[in-house]
Formats: sequence, C-alpha cells, structure tokens
Amino acid sequence: MPETLVGTVAEFEGGTRKIVEVDGVDVGVFRHRGKFVAFENRCLHQGGPVCEGILIGQVEQIIDEDGRDRGQRFSEDREHLVCPWHGWEYEISTGRCAADRRMALRAYRVQTRDDRVYVSP
Ligand code: FES
Repeated sequence: MPETLVGTVAEFEGGTRKIVEVDGVDVGVFRHRGKFVAFENRCLHQGGPVCEGILIGQVEQIIDEDGRDRGQRFSEDREHLVCPWHGWEYEISTGRCAADRRMALRAYRVQTRDDRVYVSP
C-alpha cells in the first residue's frame, strides 16, 4: 500500500497537526496524547474542512452522589474535533460522530519508522 511521508515525529510535538494530500485527498494528521490518528479532511455534514477545527473537551453532565444535576464541564479525558463550518463534533481518538456514533470520518493508517510519520489509505 503506498505511503505518504508527512514529516518527522518531532514536528508533531505539542499537539501540532498537519493537513497533507494523500492520493489527491486532503487528510488531517494529528498526534493526540502520544498516538497518531488521521482522517479525511471532509465533514460528514456538508463536506467542511473538519480537520481544521478546534479540539475541545466533550461536554459532560455532572451528577452528584444523590443523583442531582450539578451542571456541566468539559471532559479532560475525551476530546472532540469540531468542524469549523457548523459545529459537528467527532471523537478525535476514533473519528466517530459525537451525535451519531454509527457515522465516522474516513480514517487513514498512520505508521512511524525511524522518527518519520507515514500515512496510507
Ligand atoms: S460541514 Fe461540518 S458541520 Fe457542517
């Protein structure tokens, strides 16, 4: 399977992402919590450049031990990639749509060798 070199591992330090072209398709490559993921840069809603969106913690409901609602907070464990066009959210770790987990961004395979990062369909 053909691979595309997207850079060195060091270039992805500190949450850096890259948008690269793989066989004519724009692909967003992320290093998220030490693990690489890559998705087609095309939102499932209307084709927006989803990989250019912000990363934000999933909104969680806070329920106390008595079952009372104590408001909301942003998760520190689960992050969502938010499409910049209309705000559809996707789990950055899997590409699954937060509103409908049956749908997911098209994922690409990411491999590292000799401190270099490669992406393939
Ligand atoms: S195109 Fe992404 S939310 Fe509409």
